[in-house]
Amino acid sequence: MEPCEFPDIERRLAPVLEKHGRDASGLLQILRDVQDLLHFIPPEAVTCIAGRLGIPRTSVEGVAGFYAFLSLEPVGEYRVLFSDNITDNMLGNRELMQYFCNKLWVEPGKVSEDNLVSVDTTSCTGMCDQGPAALVNGWPLTSLDHNRLDLIAELIRIRKPVAEWPPMLFEVADNVRRKDALLGEAFEPGSALRATLARGIRETLAEVDKANLRGRGGAGFKTASKWTFCHAAIAGEDGSALCDIGGSPVRFIVCNADEGEPGTFKDRVLLTRYADLVFEGMTIGARVVGASKGFLYLRGEYRYLLQPLEAVLQRRRDAGLLGDGILDQADFSFDIEIHLGAGAYICGEESALIESLEGRRGRPRNRPPFPVTHGYRGRPTVVDNVETFAAAANIGLHGGAWFAAQGTSQSTGTKLLSISGDVSRPGIYEYPFGVTVEQILRDCGGEDAHAVQVSGPSGTLVSWQEFGRRIAFEDLSTAGAFMVFHRQREMFAAAHNFTHFFAHESCGFCTPCRVGTQLQKKIMDKIAGGHGTASDLEELKNLGHVLKTMSHCGLGGSAANPVLDTLKKFPGTFERKLKALAFEPAFDLDGALETAREITGRDDEWAHL
Ligand SMILES: Cc1cc2nc3c(=O)[nH]c(=O)nc-3n(C[C@H](O)[C@H](O)[C@H](O)COP(=O)(O)O)c2cc1C
Ligand code: SF4
Repeated sequence: MEPCEFPDIERRLAPVLEKHGRDASGLLQILRDVQDLLHFIPPEAVTCIAGRLGIPRTSVEGVAGFYAFLSLEPVGEYRVLFSDNITDNMLGNRELMQYFCNKLWVEPGKVSEDNLVSVDTTSCTGMCDQGPAALVNGWPLTSLDHNRLDLIAELIRIRKPVAEWPPMLFEVADNVRRKDALLGEAFEPGSALRATLARGIRETLAEVDKANLRGRGGAGFKTASKWTFCHAAIAGEDGSALCDIGGSPVRFIVCNADEGEPGTFKDRVLLTRYADLVFEGMTIGARVVGASKGFLYLRGEYRYLLQPLEAVLQRRRDAGLLGDGILDQADFSFDIEIHLGAGAYICGEESALIESLEGRRGRPRNRPPFPVTHGYRGRPTVVDNVETFAAAANIGLHGGAWFAAQGTSQSTGTKLLSISGDVSRPGIYEYPFGVTVEQILRDCGGEDAHAVQVSGPSGTLVSWQEFGRRIAFEDLSTAGAFMVFHRQREMFAAAHNFTHFFAHESCGFCTPCRVGTQLQKKIMDKIAGGHGTASDLEELKNLGHVLKTMSHCGLGGSAANPVLDTLKKFPGTFERKLKALAFEPAFDLDGALETAREITGRDDEWAHL
C-alpha cells in the first residue's frame, strides 16, 4: 500500500485507522471518529482512508455524504442539531432555535464566521418525552428552554469542551410510567440463559414458538419462524447447527436499535435500564440458531449509551455469559460488538442496516433473498428488534405458555409504548396487547386528545371516533410510537412535518420515492403557504398511490400514510388551508389569449379555448 500523500493528516488519523484495522466494513466507524476529531471529513482524510482500506475515494465520499452526522464540508466546532419531530414543534423548538441562533449570531443551516458553531435541525432524536431536544456534537440535550439555551450559548462562547459541560444538561430521564410482565420483573443476568441450556436448544425454540412471539420492530413476523429459517439455512450433515467455518462465523445475530421512527424511544429505555435482558435474549437467539457473532446496531443519536453498554458487555464476559465456552459449554461461543449508526432512518430497515454494518451507504437490498438466508457478509442473519430480544429472554426464563397467557391470541405478550405529545405524563407504558387507545389516553393524561399517531409517521393516524380500537397486530399494529394531539392542534401541521421527514430520509435509490417524497413535500409546503387548491389534494392522492405501490422498500411504501390518513380523517384541516376548493389551474390559458384577440380584432369561438 502506498503511503498517504498527506503525512500531516495521516499522523492525526493514525490512532483512528489503527483502531479499526484495514477492513472496509469499518468505514462508517472510521468516518464517525474522523468527524469527531476534525469536525468534518476533509478531502485529504478521504484520500488517506481510501488508501488505507484499499477502496476508491468515491466509495469513501459516497458513504460520508449519505449519513446526516457526517459532513464533507466544515461544520462548527460545536454542532448543535435541534430535533425536529412534530412533538418538538409543538413544544416550540423552532422559536427556541431562532432564539439560540440570534444569541450566537449564526444563521440556521450555516456555520458561524469564526467556524465556532453551526446550528441546524435533525430528524427526531428519540427524546420526545422530554423535548424540545437537541444534540451537541452528538450528545443529547433535553427539556430545552431559554435558560438552558442561554447557558449553552455561553459555554460555546467561552469554548468550554463539551465533556466539561454541567452533567445536568445531558440528563436523560427514563420516564417509565407503567410496568407489566417485561419491565416489572426483576431479572438476574444469566438466569434465562441457564434455563435455556437446561431445557435444550430445540425445546427452547419450541417455547418461543408456543409463545407466538412476534417481532416488536413493526412488521410482526413470527420470531420462531425467523430463527428456524436462519438455523436451517446452513446446517451440518446431521442437521446440527454449524457455528463456524474455517474459524469465521456462519450465522449472525443482529439487534436492531436504530429506533429512528419519530415518536419512538422505548428501545432507548430498554438499553438504559434493561440491557442485560436484551443481551441475554440475543445470546439465547445465538444458541438457538447457531450464531457465534452478534451486533448491536445502535443509532447515532444514542451514542451516549455506548460506554454504559460496553460496560454491561464486559460484565457479561467476566461472568462467563459471553465469549468462549459460555456457562462452561465448550461448544457455545458468542460475543457482541456495538456498531454506531450516523443519522439515517433508513438504516432501521433490516437489509439497509446490514449494508451499513458492512460499512456502506444504507441502501435497502433487493429481497428475496432475505437476511435470514443471505444477511451480513452473505451469511444467514437474524435481525430482531431490541424489545423482541428482551421478550425472548423472558420466554427463555418463564416458558412459552406463561408468555402466551398475556395479550390476545394473535398478539401475545405485552407491548412497550413511547407516549408523547399532548399528555400530562409522557413516557414508557407497558401494556398487554389488546389495550384500547381510550384506556391508554386515560392513563397518560391525554383526555383532551382528538387524534393519535400510532407507530409514528409510517403508522396509522387514529381519530377520536376510533379510540375504541386496540393495540394489537390484528387491529393497530405498532412499533411503539404513540403521539397524542389535542383538540386545538391543526392535524395538517403533523402531516406537513412528516412529509418533510420522509423527503429528508428517502435514501434516493428508487425514483418513485426519491421524487415522490419531494413532490409530496412541495405540495404540502404550497398548501401551508396558502396557495393550495383542490387539485393539489387530488395530486397528493395520486402521489400516495405511486409511493405505496411502486417504492422499493417500506420507507417509500409508507411515506404517504400521514397525508392520506389526514385527508381521510381530518379533511377540514386541509380545506381550511386551501385558496380555492374548486379546481383552479395554475395558468389561465384563455385569459392569456386576450391580448392576441384584441390585436387581431377577433372574438369568435375559434379565438377562444
Ligand atoms: C424504513 C424502515 C425503518 C425501520 N426501522 C426500524 C427500527 O428502527 N427498528 C426496528 O427494530 N425495526 C425497524 N424496521 C423494521 C426492520 O426492517 C425489521 O423488520 C425488524 O428489525 C425485524 O425485527 P423484529 O422481527 O424483531 O420486529 C424498519 C423498517 C423500515 C422499512
Ligand atoms: S423506497 Fe425510498 S428509502 Fe426505500 S429504496 Fe426507494 S428511495 Fe430508498
